[in-house]
Amino acid sequence: MNITYNEKTGCFKLDTEHTSYVIGIVDTERFVGHAYFGGRLLEDDAGYLLRTGEAPFTPETNSRDRLSFLDCFPMEYPTGGIGDFRESAIEVKDEGGHRALQLTLADYHIYNGKKALKGLPATWGSEEDCRTLELVLEDKSLGIQAVLSYSVFAGIDAVARSVRIVNNGTGPVMLEKVMSASIDMDDRDYDKIVLHGSWARERHIDRTPLSYGVQSTASLRGESGHQQQPFMALLEKNADQDRGEVYGMNLLYSGNCITLADKGQFDNVRFMSGINPAGFGWKLEPGAEFQSPEAVLVYSAEGLGGMSRAFHDLYREHLIRGEYRCNKRPILINNWEATYFDFNTEKLLAIAREASGLGIEMLVMDDGWFGNRCDDNRALGDWEVNEEKIKGGLKYLVDEVNKLGMKFGIWFEPEMISPDSDLYRAHPDWAISIPGREPGLARNQLVLDMSREEIQDYVYEKMAAVLRSANIEYVKWDMNRPLSDIGSIALSPERQGELFHRYVLGLYRLQERLITDFPHLLLENCSGGGARFDAGMLYYSPQIWCSDDTDAIERLMIQEGTALIYPLAAMGAHVSDCPNHATGRVTPFETRGHVALAGTFGYELDVTKISEEDRKLIPAQVEMYHKYNELVRMGDYYRVASYRENHMYDCYMVVKKDKSEALVTFVQVLGRPNVHSRRILLKGLDPDKRYRVDGCERARLGSTLMQAGILVENMWGDFRSRLIHVTEA
Ligand code: GLA
Repeated sequence: MNITYNEKTGCFKLDTEHTSYVIGIVDTERFVGHAYFGGRLLEDDAGYLLRTGEAPFTPETNSRDRLSFLDCFPMEYPTGGIGDFRESAIEVKDEGGHRALQLTLADYHIYNGKKALKGLPATWGSEEDCRTLELVLEDKSLGIQAVLSYSVFAGIDAVARSVRIVNNGTGPVMLEKVMSASIDMDDRDYDKIVLHGSWARERHIDRTPLSYGVQSTASLRGESGHQQQPFMALLEKNADQDRGEVYGMNLLYSGNCITLADKGQFDNVRFMSGINPAGFGWKLEPGAEFQSPEAVLVYSAEGLGGMSRAFHDLYREHLIRGEYRCNKRPILINNWEATYFDFNTEKLLAIAREASGLGIEMLVMDDGWFGNRCDDNRALGDWEVNEEKIKGGLKYLVDEVNKLGMKFGIWFEPEMISPDSDLYRAHPDWAISIPGREPGLARNQLVLDMSREEIQDYVYEKMAAVLRSANIEYVKWDMNRPLSDIGSIALSPERQGELFHRYVLGLYRLQERLITDFPHLLLENCSGGGARFDAGMLYYSPQIWCSDDTDAIERLMIQEGTALIYPLAAMGAHVSDCPNHATGRVTPFETRGHVALAGTFGYELDVTKISEEDRKLIPAQVEMYHKYNELVRMGDYYRVASYRENHMYDCYMVVKKDKSEALVTFVQVLGRPNVHSRRILLKGLDPDKRYRVDGCERARLGSTLMQAGILVENMWGDFRSRLIHVTEA
């Protein structure tokens, strides 16, 4: 990787191993243009792609048609109000109420390493493995600076971008929109991919042609949401898992977000991502700064698979932190689907006793252990152990679990407050609401105003007291409703538009404090299942609960969509009981294990109540996890076939980085009569190495296994699965 500036050509060039990103500076006015993002270029002048030699030319040679220039020039960080009528990346309202901005290059810096983003999650890197370019753009009339930051990483084909806005003017301005990244490209008849969903159906892949106008995927829920992801990919029509050009953009942010593509009159596409400007307004006083979240851009010439692997590598190596980043996670058993609210010390210990004998390593006590939380109508905010349920107290329970050789974990929903809670009775004004308006409930709860430090601190102290009271080694941090009735008594009227973002900053501050003070804690984020499965949260927790839908077949689609961007090791996945609580489907215990193996792996059932037959399978599953987890956690992910597309079967692989080993997961969703074995072409192997495939006598060349494939026999029945281990001979 490298970053260079060629003064003669006026081009900045950012190189990763296989890609280049070129920014061109044109004209005496020093507009900053997006020249190129794609496969690695050997020459450093791609500035001709800015088309400044074609009519309407640059303003300096034809200022009569300045607007025509501005409306077609490929800007690196486009502004509105001066003649570029496409989507702008930034909107600033000045004291006079006007909205115009012209950003041109004032200065630049290139350095090794990467600065942290104040208060926000971001990729990180050392001086050895990362390099950064900062372009300082300014609007001379308002004194507004936009510092565009770009980082590239050794061995990873990704560019991380963010923007810092500085008010060097004399009066306050209102930031109404600040996108994190924007690129202008020529359309090549692209398709777009977004991940859409709902509760229990998160992150389903949706691919459609890109048409004219603005197409976006966005959240206004105060969280990234079940319904959409801060992600979009633009890809060639013929691009598939292995071939074709793909551009992916993912925002590292957990609040209101938008990613959009705007296809315009000259078949140009503007592609951008950032905080959703709807409902956003940030007052920037003179001297103040505003930091945008970070966006990651990936270009892959190796189809969607290449894109996924770049995101996975970047997030595993430069985003996730803490001791569990590279370490195996304990196999947990969570009591939610086992007991819901109906549990006590005795029941939990009975589960733990049985589980420990089977090799399960951690008991997680879910919702219902605090205050008078006997159902989901009350007590959020009252983070005191309910000793009627947890007889003998929390320390006793944890000690007993520890004596069994198991770790102990606990559930919190720190951002919430139930109207029926001691906390609400004491502080009704701590909930987000608009004066004079009854705030709407969801799951009978309200949201704490996490923009306020005193509330963050109160919640923190409550959590910390629980965590200090016993040997608790894991926290599941839940968030079970979106934000509505947006109002904070701590903000002045002109600052109410800051609440959504300040809420997210409060959340980040709280999680940062938690993992700093409890550095050995394994944190798993969660939001009514997977409503906050985003790269922002991954900075704080190495794993996120994927979905409340634990049905193995539904999970195939959810996990396929999730793995499009996020590493398998981040996906919270458990074996649960059948009939499945979300779908009523009955699947073999073995299949449930194979599907959960593609994530963090754990159990979500009452191990004392399941059938003897299923229980007996657990030790073998535990062994399977220990055997394959490193490969799953650290390997390269290849999708071989998608049940979502073929409606019959699913198949994916992980391949060890040194290509000495691979694991194929094959799920036959529907059985069929009178069929032959299925031919599966393996991927990602070394063509010249010989491999032994489970169940086959003869070792074969990687090239044979990838070109000619292996044969997977038809299995009797629906929802059957097989793991196929491939090892270098
Ligand atoms: C959410 C989570 C579940 C469980 C419940 C508890 O729905 O996704 O796993 O923790 O809350 O109320």
